[in-house]
Amino acid sequence: MNSPSGVRCATIKTDPYIKMEELDILLQQIDKDRLPRHVAMIMDGNGRWARSRGMERSNGHSEGVVSVRRVTELSSDLGIGYLTLYAFSTENWNRPDAEVETLMHLIGWAIEQELPDLKRNNVRIHLIGDIDRIPEGPRRRLLDARDQTAGCTGLQLMMCLSYSARWELTRAARTLAARAASGEIDAASISEEDIAASLATAGIPDPDLLIRTGGEYRISNFLLWQIAYSELYFTPTLWPDFDKAEYAKAIIDYQSRERRFGKTSDQVTSK
Ligand code: IPE
Ligand code: IPE
Ligand code: MG
Repeated sequence: MNSPSGVRCATIKTDPYIKMEELDILLQQIDKDRLPRHVAMIMDGNGRWARSRGMERSNGHSEGVVSVRRVTELSSDLGIGYLTLYAFSTENWNRPDAEVETLMHLIGWAIEQELPDLKRNNVRIHLIGDIDRIPEGPRRRLLDARDQTAGCTGLQLMMCLSYSARWELTRAARTLAARAASGEIDAASISEEDIAASLATAGIPDPDLLIRTGGEYRISNFLLWQIAYSELYFTPTLWPDFDKAEYAKAIIDYQSRERRFGKTSDQVTSK
């Protein structure tokens, strides 16, 4: 299947039988009563995936769309409430023009392709980031997907596009400063809740689990405020190879951790 930009877009592949069996075994290990309410993902490694196969980086991006579909499906099936995907950062605008252009076309094309299934599965799309910077064609498709899914009450899917945490925090600071200057609020009584409510993620609970694929151990300007107490999971698996089994492994690992939020282990276990 070809995207409008001419990039070969991967079709959805069925996992081989052996993979299904592995997935079933992993899914049985997940405690459905202790699921993360919100999972955030830094989807990294598309370019390396493609280059290691002698392909253009853009082929890695198109293959990455398949992984987006897989993690959305599994999140929905498990009943995870919120999934936040880092698709394009503020800093990614500094990539070569051709790659940026291809990515923008791919994002618009993919959201249009996926929209019927998203609606059928009751998935609501939220757009997080400086969406005005997205070129008009893909932006229209993104806004259309957001509007058409506005009534969906299942998985809340946040697509972070032209997003960075520092962009978001700077914008929040400006908003709060303007409100204080106009006398609407008292600067001295600005609370953590006021800051959270001024972020692009207002109303969305903080991520419980942050997954980064692609082998790097960094945050790359993602949700710096919101991940204060998230559990971090790093995997060397490149994003296009991140399948449902890999996702299940991350959730199982998350469930093995003790979240103390500054308290002692005794305090947390004696609840
Ligand atoms: C992540 O994959 C996708 C985006 C940042 C848009 P990369 O394109 O960063 O792939 P690598 O990290 O170079 O392999
Ligand atoms: C992070 O990946 C951004 C997204 C996944 C959208 P990058 O590939 O841009 O991050 P760095 O450059 O390795 O920090
Ligand atoms: Mg990268």
